Amino acid sequence: MSARTIHLVMGARPNFMKVAPLYHLLKREDWCVPILVHTGQHYDATMSDWFLRDLGLPTPNIQLGVGSGSHAEQTGKVMAAYEMACVANRPDFTVVVGDVNSTLACAMAAKKLCLPVGHLEAGLRSFDRRMPEEINRVVSDLLSDILWTPSSDADENLAREGICAERVCRVGNIMIDALELLREKIEAERTAADFGLQPDGFGVVTLHRPSNVDNAESLGDLIDQLVCIATLVPLVFPIHPRTRQRLEQFRYLPRLEAAAGIHLCKPMGYVRFAGLLREAVFAITDSGGLQGETTYMGVPCLTMRENTEQPVTISEGTNALVTRAELVGQVNKVLAGRWPKGRVPALWDGQTAKRVVTNLRNFLSER
Ligand code: UD1
Repeated sequence: MSARTIHLVMGARPNFMKVAPLYHLLKREDWCVPILVHTGQHYDATMSDWFLRDLGLPTPNIQLGVGSGSHAEQTGKVMAAYEMACVANRPDFTVVVGDVNSTLACAMAAKKLCLPVGHLEAGLRSFDRRMPEEINRVVSDLLSDILWTPSSDADENLAREGICAERVCRVGNIMIDALELLREKIEAERTAADFGLQPDGFGVVTLHRPSNVDNAESLGDLIDQLVCIATLVPLVFPIHPRTRQRLEQFRYLPRLEAAAGIHLCKPMGYVRFAGLLREAVFAITDSGGLQGETTYMGVPCLTMRENTEQPVTISEGTNALVTRAELVGQVNKVLAGRWPKGRVPALWDGQTAKRVVTNLRNFLSER
């Protein structure tokens, strides 16, 4: 077949590590030309450029430069900009990844132009439609021609929603491919030592979900818990831009800065952060990606959410959903060595991108 143009869409921080393994493999194939599309949902150096650099991604071929906004505003702007890019240079296929607003926007814009779309990390469900990501997942899956899933629960969710099995292909967890791709660099990184910390002698904190950071009272309570935990074990807390804004708005930053044992810093690049995480004794987080990464690394993960779209990280891995009231007790459980060791789920083996490429090639050769 003649070389097919494949758009790989990325918009926000958790997208870059899902696109990179696929980009590097597709680049080596003679039947296709991968084109990197960056929507600009995330734009700060810490949230975007550092990730592209770490993951060996070149300057994106297409930059939509959309930036921040309300959900409808951001989604609408990405849709309009991506539609224009596709009309100017029509791709043969669009790959969207994850569950951010850019994922949904590009899936919708492409399908309305009758372009085939594949969704990588399909089928995950938190069953909580208060989360914008859940809406992005459900609609992206409904629209996509190929649904590449990470785990059997995802296949079951799609079957329950009436999506026919021929559209679904279980490929495993693409985030593990990125960790494997950069294993040597991650293992050589000494992030903890830069903070004067010993391996297994500290916890990592990341928080950015509106449910945790947008309400003054609950964020204040959460900070009290972190200050208390830091008296037991030091914490490294790279602060997401949304969280920093809220901490400043609610005037909580001084309380955190004054707390002994809490190391505050900017968001880190991919390698630096993964290097930190692998040496941590636990993570406290509300991130989606970290739940999978900690399971793979065998690091206990205390997820500050009511639900998760990745139940396999709880049933098989090292993850647990934790409320603010339970947090200190759960940290003590980790420190006492009473946390489940977990195992790595099936197909989390660093070969996911390879399975996607084979499937995509077969799909396109039939068209
Ligand atoms: C987005 C994703 C979320 C993902 C998270 C990872 C959606 C609905 N949410 O949430 O699923 O877990 O990314 O970070 O797509 N900002 C900056 N610089 C940036 C990017 C954002 O300062 O480079 C600030 C802006 O003020 C912006 C706010 O952070 O309004 C939130 O950014 P946004 O992309 O809307 O959502 P996230 O909370 O990052």
